[in-house]
Amino acid sequence: MAGRIQDRVAVVTGGCSGIGLATVRRFVAEGAKVVIGDIDDARGAAIVEELGGVDVVTYVHVDVTDKDQVDALFQTAKDTYGAVDIAFNNAGISPPEDDSILDTDLAAWRKVQEVNLTSVYLCCKAALPHMLEQGRGSIINTASFVAVMGAATSQISYSASKGGVLSMTRELGVQFARQGVRVNALCPGPVNTPLLQELFAKDEERAARRLVHVPMGRFGEPEEMASAVLFLASDDSSFMTASTFLVDGGISGAYVTPI
Ligand SMILES: NC(=O)c1ccc[n+]([C@@H]2O[C@H](COP(=O)([O-])OP(=O)(O)OC[C@H]3O[C@@H](n4cnc5c(N)ncnc54)[C@H](O)[C@@H]3O)[C@@H](O)[C@H]2O)c1
Repeated sequence: MAGRIQDRVAVVTGGCSGIGLATVRRFVAEGAKVVIGDIDDARGAAIVEELGGVDVVTYVHVDVTDKDQVDALFQTAKDTYGAVDIAFNNAGISPPEDDSILDTDLAAWRKVQEVNLTSVYLCCKAALPHMLEQGRGSIINTASFVAVMGAATSQISYSASKGGVLSMTRELGVQFARQGVRVNALCPGPVNTPLLQELFAKDEERAARRLVHVPMGRFGEPEEMASAVLFLASDDSSFMTASTFLVDGGISGAYVTPI
């Protein structure tokens, strides 16, 4: 039986871990060819092997803050599999030195802006010419629920970067809507991935404080994000663009939560 994105070609940044990896696995299961862009070469090689080799998945070493490397990533998809149908621009970081504005220095601020926001600009800029030429494409940029609500446990640069991703996504979605290219933002709630585990590892109280605000009372799983990304990538979401797609266990809708 044909998959939901059968024979489409997808680029996934940050595809070696967490939400990106779950999405790579799901995309392959649904019939797509996938090019992973990441900096984790050992994991990249292992994932290509796990998923059936280069007929299906290609790994490219890409620092998403580097324009030449990002351009080469999308060109690899075109050259290897013949198209760029889906771009899941997802790589991101959440380092501990990004904290309250009172404690976050300029170097920490800039690093997060580069990896989380400038990277999405570079990936969209590289993907769009391919998609416009085809007259078809779906871009999904990973923002976060913190793009739409504030947190007292601040990560000032991270939140600002995700707000930037969300508004850039909206603007691109509007600009290219009549040319067959859809651009949507995935806004995950807290998801059980290495990124979140690292953030909360040293601070159980901080993790508990976050959970109190999730009506479902748990963190999301990467596979639950992958399902949402698949929906946005596929024709099932054909009338959706420029959207803020919140997949957050109810966090953004809650005033008080059940105990
Ligand atoms: N986990 C959460 O709770 C959560 C919530 C909201 C949004 N997000 C966002 O989802 C995305 C994925 O997060 P995750 O939790 O799966 O993280 P993760 O740490 O599990 O995976 C991130 C991947 O990005 C790669 N990466 C990091 N810097 C890179 C760079 N410069 N160039 C290329 N690749 C790079 C890493 O090697 C890793 O494979 C991020 O944008 C993150 O901000 C996560």
